[in-house]
Amino acid sequence: MKILVTGGAGYIGSITTRALLDAGHEVIVLDTLENGHAEAVDPRARLEIGDVGDATVLGWVLPGCDAVMHLAGYIEVAESQNDPGRYFSNNACRPLTLLSAMVEHDVRALVFSSTAAVYGAPDCVPIVESAPTVPVNAYGASKLMFEQQLDWFGRAHGLHSIRFRYFNAAGAWPDGSIGEAHEPETHLIPRVLRSMADGQTHFEVYGGDYHTPDGTCVRDYIHVVDLAEAHRTALERLGAGHDGGVYNLGNGRGYSNLEVVRACADVTGRRIEIQIGPRREGDPPQLVAGHSKARRDLGLAPMRDDLRTMIEDAWRWHSEHPSGYTYCRV
Ligand SMILES: NC(=O)c1ccc[n+]([C@@H]2O[C@H](COP(=O)([O-])OP(=O)(O)OC[C@H]3O[C@@H](n4cnc5c(N)ncnc54)[C@H](O)[C@@H]3O)[C@@H](O)[C@H]2O)c1
Repeated sequence: MKILVTGGAGYIGSITTRALLDAGHEVIVLDTLENGHAEAVDPRARLEIGDVGDATVLGWVLPGCDAVMHLAGYIEVAESQNDPGRYFSNNACRPLTLLSAMVEHDVRALVFSSTAAVYGAPDCVPIVESAPTVPVNAYGASKLMFEQQLDWFGRAHGLHSIRFRYFNAAGAWPDGSIGEAHEPETHLIPRVLRSMADGQTHFEVYGGDYHTPDGTCVRDYIHVVDLAEAHRTALERLGAGHDGGVYNLGNGRGYSNLEVVRACADVTGRRIEIQIGPRREGDPPQLVAGHSKARRDLGLAPMRDDLRTMIEDAWRWHSEHPSGYTYCRV
């Protein structure tokens, strides 16, 4: 198949692009490179620098495509609280141009990177797809808005979409050649590993008084290569006539922030003193995926569900690329 991957120069998009190419698909990456890296894009893919809200660029890249994987977006929760308009514009409004262009060019299959943030602070875990969607930050709200647009485009134009609500992506391509390089980095595992690579002696965990077994937040991690494989499978299911739907992508197992930091120390052999800081606003105590729907309907079976494997792969990337990609922003 010929696939347009938006955000394909970012962390998850670059790894998904490589997995699609390895499976024999043809890939066009569309990315502004605002937060992505040209070096992360596999040279077998065609890279177009442009915005998902630019109808002219879409007119060049979409004709002849069989499907779109829409990963482009802004991802920082705290920033979304301070500047919600930026998130609604980029995550919900500009991609509307993408949907209209897909209809115009008769591309009717899409896989969307949504997020567990659409659930807000749920009362019970594991969280199943039918749980109420009450986002507590503008990031989650902007993603939910786009999910709803997909629903309406499905009804009106026969656009079939699989909407994946990721929990926390972790790890890197297993040989350490491409991985996570956000600036600023807000995700726990890369923050810990970068602190360790920099030789820092302390690491601050946000909040130690949550109603969880050790008082720190609990999160569900999924290996980024398993995410990429899930995208490939979703594409094949859509190609085979699957109607689409909403699916959680996680492993159904939660790890506390303390467990994660200790596992990082174990993998790297580097000691770091853990300090408990204040809570970070908007952090729900526990986010753990109910993952049986994706396993049942799509036949997904993550192969790298062990936290240690995720950290080992991430460490390979971070220790070999202490400055991330050599140049980043345009
Ligand atoms: N990383 C996670 O743990 C996680 C969890 C849940 C959901 N997600 C979702 O997965 C997707 C990918 O996340 P990531 O961690 O790879 O983020 P990332 O920032 O590394 O990648 C996003 C890419 O999108 C590009 N981009 C942003 N706006 C664009 C636009 N308007 N047009 C074209 N390109 C644009 C950026 O330049 C960047 O390369 C995001 O949509 C995010 O919301 C990620």
